[in-house]
Amino acid sequence: MREINASIPFDKRLWREDIAGSRAHAAMLGAAGIVSPDDAAAIDAGLGTVAGEYDADGVTVDLALEDIHMATEQRLAQLIGPAAGRLHTARSRNDQVATDFKLWVRSAIDAVLAGLAGLQAALVMRAEEHAESVMPGFTHLQVAQPVTLGHHLMAYYEMVGRDRSRFADAKARANLSPLGSAALAGTGFPIDRDATAAALGFDGPTANSLDSVSDRDFAMDYLMAATTCAVHLSRLSEEFVIWASQPFGFVALSDAWSTGSSIMPQKRNPDAAELVRGHSGRIAGCMMALTMTMKGLPLAYSKDMQDDKPPVFEAHDLLALSIAAMTGMVESVTFRTDRMRAAAEAGYSTATDLADWLVRVADVPFREAHHITGQAVRLAETTGCALDQIPIDALRAIDPRIDRRVYDALSVDASVAARVSHGGTAPVRVREAVARAKEALAL
Ligand code: ARG
Repeated sequence: MREINASIPFDKRLWREDIAGSRAHAAMLGAAGIVSPDDAAAIDAGLGTVAGEYDADGVTVDLALEDIHMATEQRLAQLIGPAAGRLHTARSRNDQVATDFKLWVRSAIDAVLAGLAGLQAALVMRAEEHAESVMPGFTHLQVAQPVTLGHHLMAYYEMVGRDRSRFADAKARANLSPLGSAALAGTGFPIDRDATAAALGFDGPTANSLDSVSDRDFAMDYLMAATTCAVHLSRLSEEFVIWASQPFGFVALSDAWSTGSSIMPQKRNPDAAELVRGHSGRIAGCMMALTMTMKGLPLAYSKDMQDDKPPVFEAHDLLALSIAAMTGMVESVTFRTDRMRAAAEAGYSTATDLADWLVRVADVPFREAHHITGQAVRLAETTGCALDQIPIDALRAIDPRIDRRVYDALSVDASVAARVSHGGTAPVRVREAVARAKEALAL
């Protein structure tokens, strides 16, 4: 029973939040005259001592004390005597643990937000460097149309921006204090929930005591935002894995963020990218674990909810590490823009530009232009040349409305430069997006 019942092996990680919550509660009990000023002061000083011990030596795990709340209360009793027994007046471990965990998740979100801003900064700086570097854009991992590398990197800037907004949103929604909901029904003591909420940096107290002690939405919100974020990091990781492979050769990962093989001296493996990709699966698993734990629990607290912490802790550690690794990779990767350009030029990626030219200059309906372009691509394929290397006579044999001006549209540079629509890949648009991002990030 001791072993299955205890949460101290993992919830000791909440010690800072537990001390902060208890100090806020004790101060309120003193101010409200529920405990004497002397006892409130002794409790506060004792909790300060306990915090100092935890900080210096860590939390001792004693399964008999079940959790961090009981461990702290017992140590407080050893330090200050019977007054320690007054701390638990007008509260329960149910509102206590909900409060502690919310405080922890709130700090975790702050850490993630800072990390993601750093990742965005890295993406923006590399995008600025490569606002004009041409690479193939892909659909179905087949060369589609040329894009700029800066545009590609800024796509991830956008994804990470949405991640930040999801985390910020989760934090804003979570920021109400459950403390004072007591076991489930509230309390008859004249407590001041506004005061403890304010002392702990919450926007105010929660509205319903039953909901307060049984709500873990804030943890699920965190895990769901973490899952979406991890999926984004995983996608960028996969790009790095593909780009670093020899047939692509689009990037050389830095030595700092890759590893050698124990037997193949020529290897530089994208281990960090693969682990970020792998961690995303584990983070999604954590999200599923808590969702399944909460499913079907009746009001109010049930002990199942003690299992809420391990998946959140695990996901957060994995995510924080993934963000740091991804930031390091983005900052230090070498983009082999010559290889990217060659791949863009090799894949008939400007075929759409030929069709667009026929529409714009020769007033050909798009469907017909698409058909004509198909014939030009086939000719280029059989003669083994690029689209802009097909002689003008051969192009005119396909359709006499084509003239020499078409060559201006067929280079990959002309192709990207032409895509100036809002959100398009043209270097001028990328530089604008970079400027906006730098302003938003105060870079
Ligand atoms: N160790 C418990 C947890 O982490 C604290 C709450 C215990 N409450 C109770 N009614 N047994 O959830």
